[in-house]
Amino acid sequence: MDFKAYVTDKIAELTGLDRTAASNAAETPPDEKMGDLAFPCFPLAKVMRKAPAAIAAELAEKFPAGGPVAKVEAAGGYLNFFFDRAEFAKDIISGINAAGEKWGSSGEGAGKTVLVEYSSPNIAKPFHIGHLFSTAVGNSLARIYKHLGYNVQSLNHLGDWGTQFGKLISAYKRWGDKAAIEKEPIKELLRIYVKFHEEAEKDPSLDDEARMYFKKLEDGDDEATSLWKYFKDLSLVEFQRVYDMLGVKFDSYNGEAFYSDKMDEVVDILREKGLLTESDGAQVVDLSELNIPPCIILKSDGATIYATRDIAAALYRHRTYDFYKNIYVVGTPQALHFKQIFAVMKKAGWDWSSGCTHVNFGLVKLPGKAMSTRHGDVVFLEDVLNESIEKTRAIIESSSPDASDIDEKSKKIGIGAILYTFLKNSREKDIVFSWESMLDFEGESAPYCQYSYARGRSILRRAEGIDWSDADMSLAASDEEYSLVKQLGLYGDAVKAAADKNEPFLVNRYVTNLAKLFNKFYNTNPILKDDVDIETKKARLAIVDAACTVIKSALYMLGIETVESM
Ligand code: ARG
Repeated sequence: MDFKAYVTDKIAELTGLDRTAASNAAETPPDEKMGDLAFPCFPLAKVMRKAPAAIAAELAEKFPAGGPVAKVEAAGGYLNFFFDRAEFAKDIISGINAAGEKWGSSGEGAGKTVLVEYSSPNIAKPFHIGHLFSTAVGNSLARIYKHLGYNVQSLNHLGDWGTQFGKLISAYKRWGDKAAIEKEPIKELLRIYVKFHEEAEKDPSLDDEARMYFKKLEDGDDEATSLWKYFKDLSLVEFQRVYDMLGVKFDSYNGEAFYSDKMDEVVDILREKGLLTESDGAQVVDLSELNIPPCIILKSDGATIYATRDIAAALYRHRTYDFYKNIYVVGTPQALHFKQIFAVMKKAGWDWSSGCTHVNFGLVKLPGKAMSTRHGDVVFLEDVLNESIEKTRAIIESSSPDASDIDEKSKKIGIGAILYTFLKNSREKDIVFSWESMLDFEGESAPYCQYSYARGRSILRRAEGIDWSDADMSLAASDEEYSLVKQLGLYGDAVKAAADKNEPFLVNRYVTNLAKLFNKFYNTNPILKDDVDIETKKARLAIVDAACTVIKSALYMLGIETVESM
């Protein structure tokens, strides 16, 4: 039952307000002691020609207490409502019981497709911390939209095309060492790529050679194509290891190369619409009316670029998926690029392009050497993940030396800690990684939330033999129980708000608060102690059970796994 709607519908009846207006006006009081829902009477003063306080007093008298509402109080110009705690708890707990992992989901997405493009690393280049940020945010958004009933497609727009592949082919043919490459593909490919740049400084003819190889690749030359494929396959094996560790899966790996034969059409369309103008030999779309630099479509040598491929990709996605939203989870430094391509698409008259959104995120700082294992200048992600797992293992081993399944636990907790850190604040904020706060089992962290869950599960295991399915929830009406139950009821709102703003941190904050309230509850309300009577035990166990369901689901939205004991 919707307690809020019950109250605001009645207010609408009593005042003649429209139901939606009444519902929109209702507020959550700043302090729980002031009730569960407040209705400000100020806007009514004009119509009713009375002081807000007098209106509140009058309505308080007219409003029938009973049913879901235990008490109505006028306080200044506000009308404060106190729900019936037992009714409320019964409603929420039985709702969670019935819905299980679907609690907090909705049907808002039925029939709509949301594309979430994320991760998108570059072939033969390291998967860096920015790609991990993108992966954490994108994977979370994909799960959040799924929970809301959308048909979600996770897309990995691999950076697998462009003139750099001409350089790589040239470098490989000159200095490539097959054995070394197969041992550590990305590290070695990066090494020869860097060497290429150094050598080309001294001998510019290398650049011509690279252009020649890229041209060959574009023309489908056998040797160039098979080398390109070789680099790509080796890189994907490395990326896949990271995705497996993170539990991330994609529906498509169509990268930039996939669109290489789909760009002529884009160029034709833009030309036909009269949008292309020449600038220094290049073909560009002028965007001066938006005060942004022109978007280059064809370089002076006729080659297409990153932007052209992105425009072709958007058109392809529209045709293939008829998307409702097409979300790009890419760092803030590419904000101008997305502004430009979205503007070009709008100028081309593609109405559907209004569904395209750049979901940006800030920078990641890795203070101290302890955090980063460096090969040259680059932080290798796999090393960071492994370091987190190792540190977690050390913590578990020292605090509970005989814990079971240490491998699995260290992995789930160590990786969860990293994902949590990326999703802790609004995504545009820069992040400073700190092992201490990331792995602080008592602070705001993944381990803290995972611990709450494990604690709940252990209580349920110890309650074997007790059936709490028919618990009398009027026995669970203490302040701590009631606050916890209210928070459980807010899960759907948190998921929806996260999707509306493309901000997974709203779910992160939700689950952190839930874990805190859960801790407070079980620390103040004994559950299995001998002196607790069986009916109260059942009511409290029902709350523990529901809290575990919701913590697990919310952590899943963040890509974080749970463990049954810690
Ligand atoms: N590969 C790019 C990079 O590593 C990110 C791609 C972003 N997606 C896009 N559709 N342009 O910077």
